[in-house]
Amino acid sequence: MKVRHIAAAILAATFAASCGGPQTTTNKETGLKDAVGDKFLIGTALNVFQSSGQDTNAVKVVKKHFNAIVAENCMKMEEVHPSEDVYTFDKADQFIKFGEENGLTMTGHCLIWHSQCPEWFFVDKDGKQVSPEVLKQRMKDHIYTVAQHFKGKLKGWDVVNEAIVEDGSYRKSKFYEILGEEFIPLAFQYAHEADPDVELYYNDYGMDNEGRRNGVVKLIRTLKERGLRIDAVGMQGHMGMDYPKIEEFEKSMLAFAAEGVKVMITEWDMSALPTASRTANISDTVAFKKALNPYPDALPDSVSQVWNARMKQFFNLFEKHADIVDRVTAWGVSDGDSWKNGFPIRGRRDYPLLFDRNYQPKPFVSEIIKENQTSNK
Ligand code: XIL
Repeated sequence: MKVRHIAAAILAATFAASCGGPQTTTNKETGLKDAVGDKFLIGTALNVFQSSGQDTNAVKVVKKHFNAIVAENCMKMEEVHPSEDVYTFDKADQFIKFGEENGLTMTGHCLIWHSQCPEWFFVDKDGKQVSPEVLKQRMKDHIYTVAQHFKGKLKGWDVVNEAIVEDGSYRKSKFYEILGEEFIPLAFQYAHEADPDVELYYNDYGMDNEGRRNGVVKLIRTLKERGLRIDAVGMQGHMGMDYPKIEEFEKSMLAFAAEGVKVMITEWDMSALPTASRTANISDTVAFKKALNPYPDALPDSVSQVWNARMKQFFNLFEKHADIVDRVTAWGVSDGDSWKNGFPIRGRRDYPLLFDRNYQPKPFVSEIIKENQTSNK
């Protein structure tokens, strides 16, 4: 049993004993987190409407079903560090308060990412690209200030997000262009210096891909060889009905674990819509638009069944490898909240999360909860 859960188990046993024997858990009381138990943390991303407590429907779901949270946007570079001398932590502080009040394990997302990164980061006051030395100093200031601000509050940080592409090479981001591969070890070094107790993660998408898998394995080795801390690899887990292949996803989980790091499924969702590229020209015909957004009212049962079965298969994969999986986090609470309604194509109605637009658990979630009740009897 994982250490963090032993105390909870003792407490539960003591409680049961003091109440005259084991309690029969009713459906009303059992949340997904109870069903998952000590296998791994089960989390969700929160938007600011939720972490401020205003979205009371979502808040109820979070309290009942999840024991971990991550900020969907409010800790990103452009949010907390909009210009060189300005740090804005209000929304992120509210997120932390929500987590503390509800006893939730919190992850920081993210310190260094090419996206949602303010433009000032790479240019001087005349708009000229900065030197490697200046960028290093800016990264250091950013990471130190942000990581120290949240010191003691978070279990870990996504230190670098989405830096390796499908052939295993480095994404040609501004960080890479100016600093080369060195920007990643530097980010991990600064994060550790800023908060020596916090866990450090590398996070990326499309992790089933063999080239990226090999690139990430190489990166873990580089960091470890240089004596830098890396605790886990975050596999984002943005999935569709036809990707990733479960076997390839599993291979990556095992490949990362073999390097001596934990695995986290950090941004789990599964689009129920046809896979479409962001560059698709949707203005072509009405028929084409309908093909891309085929379920504007509700998800047909036939599709829902396939979706639920596929989600369950992945959940079972995470359970099978519970010894290496530390956390599984959904990228949003309910379907209505999901970024997938606007990505990669705007204005679609998607059904990618664990709870529907009425905040009801999807069938596969209810099944997991029910199975747990049966196994507890
Ligand atoms: C997404 C958020 O969900 C959106 O609200 C935002 O507009 C864009 O970013 N990979 C990541 C996440 O690491 O931070 C992204 O989140 C989704 C892809």
